[in-house]
Amino acid sequence: MVYRIPKRFFDLISPLYDFLIRDDPTKKIIDALKLTGRERVLEIGAGTGRSIASIISLAQRVWLLDPSQPMLQQAIQKFPNAQPVLAYAENLPFEEGFYFDRIIAVDSLHHWDNQLEGLKEIERVLEPTHGFSIIVEFDPSRILGHYIKSMEKFFRMGSTFFTPVEMRTLHRKANLHIIRQAYLDEGTYLTMAKKK
Ligand SMILES: C[S@@+](CC[C@H](N)C(=O)[O-])C[C@H]1O[C@@H](n2cnc3c(N)ncnc32)[C@H](O)[C@@H]1O
Repeated sequence: MVYRIPKRFFDLISPLYDFLIRDDPTKKIIDALKLTGRERVLEIGAGTGRSIASIISLAQRVWLLDPSQPMLQQAIQKFPNAQPVLAYAENLPFEEGFYFDRIIAVDSLHHWDNQLEGLKEIERVLEPTHGFSIIVEFDPSRILGHYIKSMEKFFRMGSTFFTPVEMRTLHRKANLHIIRQAYLDEGTYLTMAKKK
């Protein structure tokens, strides 16, 4: 399956991305990730590596997946030990039986072309017994999420945002079982899920 190649917006802003967006949202999910140093972690939509910075040393090995080569290039310069993967969430290039203990997508899912296909792919490559995923997204029904949705619409980024309820429905359709959902701040929430 071929999706829009590549997301030109991120190709173009990649040199400015770290300057424009400075916070580290992953700090807010470190506890939830329960890393012991033995986990294989996949970040989908890793971009420049902003959201992996605080957890890279806590995992056994990290895969950084993104369809934007210029974004991924920056991530790899910062984290040369991570495994770069130039690909889309909707078509993960991992064979059957190749599993990840943790899969995260931070500020990324709303950019995917097909969120259900992406979640189905997460379900496919998630370790069956103790593996889980964490999706961090903006809630469009809250002020911050509504603002980000409006900005991205203005820039014609083609984003699709989901409320926590809609996100649960999407996960269920992908055969993922929700473990927990919680707000990280006034407009950002996480959804933790595992295989059924
Ligand atoms: C706002 S950035 C977030 C990057 C990083 N997670 C962070 O928090 O800084 C969104 C990223 O999603 C990537 N992306 C867009 N479409 C995607 C898709 N279909 N599959 C995976 N990643 C995608 C973009 O290339 C971009 O790097």
